[in-house]
Amino acid sequence: MYETLRPLLFRLDPETAHHLTLALLKWGGDAAPTREMLRGMFCVDDARLHVNAFGLEFKNPVGLAAGYDKNGIAVRGLAALGFGHIEVGTVTRLPQIGNEKPRVWRVPEARALVNRMGFPNEGVEKLKLPRVDARVGVNIGKGKDTPLENAAEDYVELLRAVHSRADYVAVNVSSPNTHNLRALQTRELIEPLLKQIADARDALSPRVPVLVKIAPDLSFDEIDGIVDAARDVNFDGIIATNTTVSREDIPEYAKHFGGGMSGEPLRARATQIIHHICETTRGEFPIIGVGGIGDANSALEKLRAGATLIQIFTGMIYRGPRLVKEINQALLGGA
Ligand SMILES: Cc1cc2nc3c(=O)[nH]c(=O)nc-3n(C[C@H](O)[C@H](O)[C@H](O)COP(=O)(O)O)c2cc1C
Repeated sequence: MYETLRPLLFRLDPETAHHLTLALLKWGGDAAPTREMLRGMFCVDDARLHVNAFGLEFKNPVGLAAGYDKNGIAVRGLAALGFGHIEVGTVTRLPQIGNEKPRVWRVPEARALVNRMGFPNEGVEKLKLPRVDARVGVNIGKGKDTPLENAAEDYVELLRAVHSRADYVAVNVSSPNTHNLRALQTRELIEPLLKQIADARDALSPRVPVLVKIAPDLSFDEIDGIVDAARDVNFDGIIATNTTVSREDIPEYAKHFGGGMSGEPLRARATQIIHHICETTRGEFPIIGVGGIGDANSALEKLRAGATLIQIFTGMIYRGPRLVKEINQALLGGA
């Protein structure tokens, strides 16, 4: 079905196509008959796929990465596509419109996307978090106008606002599209930031797992610093990785697109980082592996490198929702 739909969607500019598919998923997910139809087409329910991570049971390891459903409007439809978890957001405290358009580009030859969205979202008050039979994480970010020195207040406020409804919270310090955000990954800033978030989490009931999402453009030394800081304050895991500012392995015409690149050109670097974190932590720190998963093999590559869970975004744009089913079936050892 997606083979028929994709050429039509790819005639539209990427953001319009995205809004359209999200609207279809909202519509399909809100009505029971279409939701059940989607479930029948895409869900693979098998106890052998269950994964335990940071105290939660996931029905399978395949999740949707942040940025696809920023306001949580289509969570029911997305759950019906068979994801084990859905990460909504990035959400900020206040609504914001994001960067000027165009701000998403397809690079089909490289199976990549480049985006500089800048967290357009309706703000945490409007975030929808319906209960579904998949885990729902909330990815939180600093507002565009929040100075770096006040960033912790944004994250703590957002954590408090969502903790009772989220299965986990992802702290996004790695988007390249919010000015200075990635500076929060430096050792001097990350330690106090994660500590303040962890302290706030520890004062909340019920306890919600918190994970930090990192950029792929960091050195191993920088990554080690973040992992140490996160483990010191009892963070529950790490999400590796966000989009890259590198423009390697994409055609010349796409090199000037501004923002972060995702998809196949990111795959090897993200896997390398997952492998590195898994080795240095002896597999004791849960990793959600994300970046360039476009088929069952690249999904298995991330899991073999040490990821406990995986996420997809760009792969779904190129391959459609059957990618979720394809990966889950491959994990069961069949077609
Ligand atoms: C259009 C677009 C928007 C994104 N928005 C966010 C976001 O709001 N927050 C975030 O943490 N990551 C965001 N990401 C990054 C993805 O969650 C993911 O980390 C990255 O795309 C790598 O995975 P992929 O190669 O499977 O796409 C976005 C990615 C794309 C392509």
